[in-house]
Amino acid sequence: MNNDSAATLAGKDIISLKNFSNEEIRLVLDTAKEMKNIIKRDIKKVPTLRGKSIVNLFFEPSTRTRTSFELAGKYLSADVVSINTSASSVVKGESLRDTLYTIEAMGVDAIVMRHKAEGAADFASRVVKPVIINAGDGAHAHPSQALLDLFTIEQAKGELNGLKIAIVGDILHSRVARSDIAGMTKMGLDIHLAGPKTLMPRFFNIDGVTIHERVEDAIKDADVINVLRIQLERQQAGLFPSMREYARIFGINDERLKLAKDDVLVMHPGPQNKGLEISTAVTYGEHSAIREQVQNGVAVRMALLTLALTGKKVD
Ligand code: NCD
Repeated sequence: MNNDSAATLAGKDIISLKNFSNEEIRLVLDTAKEMKNIIKRDIKKVPTLRGKSIVNLFFEPSTRTRTSFELAGKYLSADVVSINTSASSVVKGESLRDTLYTIEAMGVDAIVMRHKAEGAADFASRVVKPVIINAGDGAHAHPSQALLDLFTIEQAKGELNGLKIAIVGDILHSRVARSDIAGMTKMGLDIHLAGPKTLMPRFFNIDGVTIHERVEDAIKDADVINVLRIQLERQQAGLFPSMREYARIFGINDERLKLAKDDVLVMHPGPQNKGLEISTAVTYGEHSAIREQVQNGVAVRMALLTLALTGKKVD
């Protein structure tokens, strides 16, 4: 680990990995490694963020992301409040701007935010002073998920550069795919996308990314497969003819897995539509890193909060 690294995330709003340098991504991954040791201790508490306060402001449903940001803050001794917007003044019509002003006035240091509108986190970073961490804005970005995906791959494979990853499914509506692509191209992964034509962005031309029509071509000899949830809630009618058809043509099952490398790692950001994009056998099978992703999510979010709120690392 390079303690002399010039990279620092102090005070940085974490909106999209497009705004991250390779050194900054490296700093997060190395710091997450130290954080993972803390999570494994009997007493998972360090004083790093004592006296800091964090608000989780989620306008969209979440299990993993919200809980892991909350635990991450608590393990670091910050005061953390999670606002359930369906029980807040948002239902009385309070605007996003006024909700942010209200939280800012209480003296918080960071706001972790999820919103259905693309650009919502960027907007927040322009109107209030606390550090803004984007926990998902529409189909645009989900940077902490991409960082935990990178961390999970590096932990399992020992490296990132040159690995072949297949990202399979609903690319069009996936903020995870967008952030994965932004981070993974920077870290030297060879990215292959596959999914129905109707769920693939139409204009897509990025160095290091290949698009396939057949999932078999994308996963052939892959080191990693990232299976995406079919985002039924973001789709308009007509994009998706039949669940059974999708599972048959694109679903990741044991048979298809044989095309990948023998030690292929299977990831899924969750929540899963089992039997649709992924089979139950693969989810619980020997190649699955889905549980590790969840644990690593806490470590990576501890790293992000520490780096953004103190600029320092923990020992
Ligand atoms: C993802 C999300 O919300 O974008 N889930 C997550 O954060 N673990 C993916 C999804 O909802 O499909």
